[in-house]
Amino acid sequence: MLSLPNTELFAGRDALTFDDVLVVPGWSEVLPSEVSTSTTIAGIDLRLPLLSAAMDTVTEAPLAISLAREGGIGILHRNMTILEQAAQVDRVKRSQAGMITAPVSLSPNATLADAEALMSRHSISGVPITDDDERLVGILTNRDIRFCTEAEYHRPVTDFMTSRNLVTAPVGTSLEDAVHILHEHRIEKLPLVDAQGRLRGLITVKDITKRVQKPHATLDPEGRLRVGAAIGVNDAMERAEALAHAGVDVLVIDTAHGHSRGVIDTVADVKQKWPEIVVIGGNVVTREGVQALVSAGADVVKVGVGAGSICTTRIVAGAGMPQLTAIYECATAAADLGVPVIADGGIVTSGDIVKAFAAGAAAVMLGNALAGVDEAPGDLELVDGSMWKTYRGMGSAGAMKGRAADRYAGGQMGAPGAGGPDHGGKHVPEGVEARVRYAGALSKLVSQLAGGLRSGMGYAGAGNLDELRTATRLVRVTGAGLRESHPHDVQVVTDSQW
Ligand code: IMP
Repeated sequence: MLSLPNTELFAGRDALTFDDVLVVPGWSEVLPSEVSTSTTIAGIDLRLPLLSAAMDTVTEAPLAISLAREGGIGILHRNMTILEQAAQVDRVKRSQAGMITAPVSLSPNATLADAEALMSRHSISGVPITDDDERLVGILTNRDIRFCTEAEYHRPVTDFMTSRNLVTAPVGTSLEDAVHILHEHRIEKLPLVDAQGRLRGLITVKDITKRVQKPHATLDPEGRLRVGAAIGVNDAMERAEALAHAGVDVLVIDTAHGHSRGVIDTVADVKQKWPEIVVIGGNVVTREGVQALVSAGADVVKVGVGAGSICTTRIVAGAGMPQLTAIYECATAAADLGVPVIADGGIVTSGDIVKAFAAGAAAVMLGNALAGVDEAPGDLELVDGSMWKTYRGMGSAGAMKGRAADRYAGGQMGAPGAGGPDHGGKHVPEGVEARVRYAGALSKLVSQLAGGLRSGMGYAGAGNLDELRTATRLVRVTGAGLRESHPHDVQVVTDSQW
């Protein structure tokens, strides 16, 4: 006898997405310029609640650096070797520091040529010189070697370094005190030494300047930029080990279907081995999916199946959940467990960001919206008189070629839209290769998105994201309402996006 289909569908509500709703303007006493856009994700404070998608046309070190400097956080993609990904984490971590705790140094026997090679490899303008007991004996900076001749390059660094009247400070010196010392002595680098004179840290003017320029940057306790990285299921432990070693702050178990055995086991293994690292699990779209990930140890749950702008999962597999309902269902389940959710996919405008929060998100992940910025990987293309940048799904045929093949063809649970089950070695793509409009510098774009979010908070009367989540009314709109929402009955002449 044939069994009956699951009839839950016909008794339930419709599932909705961003364009189905609007925020109802409510009583407001807040000015957009005064609202707080801060959020906390498992102990990580973000002044801007934005994460960049772990995609090879979105997040590598340059974008992760820029986004963290604006107050969000980047998630490095995993369509590269373990070594390459760990090197990218290292690059972000070394791009800015409060105090450099393990400064690169040279021995007094090194030559000027050695020093120059080291400084250019690490993009630094000076290097402390230490003896075999790590005791500081001098410091060599670009200034000391500016006019050196070819012959002098083979002489030891001790002939050129500053060693007399070396200005140092004790371990534990605050950044504020360091600023005074640097200023008083008109120097650029302040080595920190212990009671035995051993080098224990370095504070530089460059790092302090960076901090002053971007006071809202997302920093770790050592004053370095925070960064996340994606791992899959196949080589999860090996990859996580290298990333943890490089100092990653967040590990994202980044898969198409998080409510599945392989993903749940991976979350549990990773969290058990690295309890101090924030683990984001996903993607799921149901209450049960949230519960399974949280029981396995996920600190944060990522929500979205098939919502991505480059995603064809819903067409290819017929599976998914309209994103606003997914956020709401998952956020309510996660709130019961004290866990935040990240809305991932389908967010193109700042208005979508506002709606994602109103439905319960604690932060949003952006692919499409960030793929067009200067810092995203890939070259500019001129098409039909406009500038574009490549943007492709991680489950697209292009992304799954070459190195991606072994990363993404490992089974249906491998990556967001990683393609369906591998039928006889043939993988079905669940994403497209596309392009998005060139968007200029990330800082400019992000300030537009933040401005839109602030404006939405003003309409909702929400002074912070918690109020936006709990006090906002959403109303469902019809097709006519949606048409009315966009510019209509005019010929738009400006090229700006909304
Ligand atoms: P977007 O911001 O709407 O472009 O969505 C980005 C999100 O789509 C990513 O963070 C992933 O969760 C998801 N995604 C990335 N690549 C693919 C794919 O090839 N197919 C389906 N979903 C994808």
